[in-house]
Amino acid sequence: MDAGRGQWSSKIGFIFAAAGSAIGLGNIWRFPYVVGENGGAAFVLMYIAFVVIIGLPYMFAELALGRASKKNPVGAIEAIKPKSLWKWVGTLGVLTGVGILSFYGVIAGWTFGYIFKTAAGNIGEFSQFVSDPLIVLVLFAFFMVLTTLIVYGGVEGGIERWSKILMPILLILLVGLIIYANTLEGASRGLSFYLQPDFSKITGKTMLAALGQAFFSLSLGMGLMITYGSYVSKDDDIVNSAFYIGLFDTLIAFMAGLIIFPALFAMHQSPSAGPSLVFVVFPKLFTQMPGGLLVGTFFFILLTVAALTSTISLLEVPVAYLVDEKKYKRKKIVWIVSAFTFIVGIPSALSQGASSFFSDFGWLPERLTSVDFLSHMSFIFGDFSLAFGALLLSIFIGWIWGAPQAANELQRGSAFFTKTKAIWIFMIRYFIPAVIFLILLNLFGIFD
Ligand code: TRP
Repeated sequence: MDAGRGQWSSKIGFIFAAAGSAIGLGNIWRFPYVVGENGGAAFVLMYIAFVVIIGLPYMFAELALGRASKKNPVGAIEAIKPKSLWKWVGTLGVLTGVGILSFYGVIAGWTFGYIFKTAAGNIGEFSQFVSDPLIVLVLFAFFMVLTTLIVYGGVEGGIERWSKILMPILLILLVGLIIYANTLEGASRGLSFYLQPDFSKITGKTMLAALGQAFFSLSLGMGLMITYGSYVSKDDDIVNSAFYIGLFDTLIAFMAGLIIFPALFAMHQSPSAGPSLVFVVFPKLFTQMPGGLLVGTFFFILLTVAALTSTISLLEVPVAYLVDEKKYKRKKIVWIVSAFTFIVGIPSALSQGASSFFSDFGWLPERLTSVDFLSHMSFIFGDFSLAFGALLLSIFIGWIWGAPQAANELQRGSAFFTKTKAIWIFMIRYFIPAVIFLILLNLFGIFD
């Protein structure tokens, strides 16, 4: 078989790499602002419910397909249903990877830049920082190079080693920041916004926003877990691994909220500031806390690493596809894909004030997304494409490959799964596609 394809060195190595993909800006940057925009605690509860009843069972399906086929999303589908239109579902995943990476890399670049701003003790205004075209493009380019260098090293050498060392450090730093933020005067109002649900805040739109965030945060819907599953050894219990991935991912997002909301209310800021929320609140926190600039520098270093383990995974999907299916050399194609992604990302990088055309883009209606180009990309690839991809993939896995086949793959080494198999088959065939279908309807504003 593909002896040269690479494999995770151990089960724990796989868990760290997949958790590294899941944990990223989605947890610390996107989750808090989406919670803030959607009214707080009731949204958080919905989010957790969706992770458990949709995200996890769907993750099992992607992992099963990956490990059974030992292929990238396109190859995996081709192996089961050769020469059919289904392979376009895999292709959609590959393109979605490039699309997400193109704007995610921009935000990761800001994060990287904030390491130096914080270290220099000169944090300044966020809006001014993001409207400087040279700075944002250089930071974005730098981040793409960093990502490329790691993916260049292949599966075990690059991705796994980095994730293992650095993710635990992030966890410890977050605990420290939670403690500090909650000692601030007025912090408790933030905690109740975050933890005391007001169910009247749940609407069709909030429910669906929670589901979308669950997909984005768990790295689902574009075949990333198919790709990462393809490097998992046949002896590992993937159901159990998926539990840990979901648990770590949700924990980190939840912890980010435990910092942001107390700090935010203590500083009398609005929770619904949108994408700039984290880049405004965290720096303020670091400026006022004792030793804050040092802690802050460290924080942005770790956030950069968390973003990096996610950008690596986003680049790995198109690369694995081109290496497996088109027989390109990994070491050459990584540079080509990342250079292409950089070009696609230039408008996003310039859309926060640097270019008025891209900042005021407004191609999609404002009901769906904000006017800037980056928000358009985030909506098209981060929301629509993931949901659409997950809908098609769950149908493919449930009906075309067949839920019983997928279940057999999941059963290897999992006593727990064997007991709950019938429920899972029902979920992947009916429940999950039905719920995702509803999200898609809502993206078109049907229930608004
Ligand atoms: N989950 C990552 C985050 O929360 C982003 C991400 C990485 C992603 N790879 C993905 C999202 C694949 C969807 C699909 O930051």
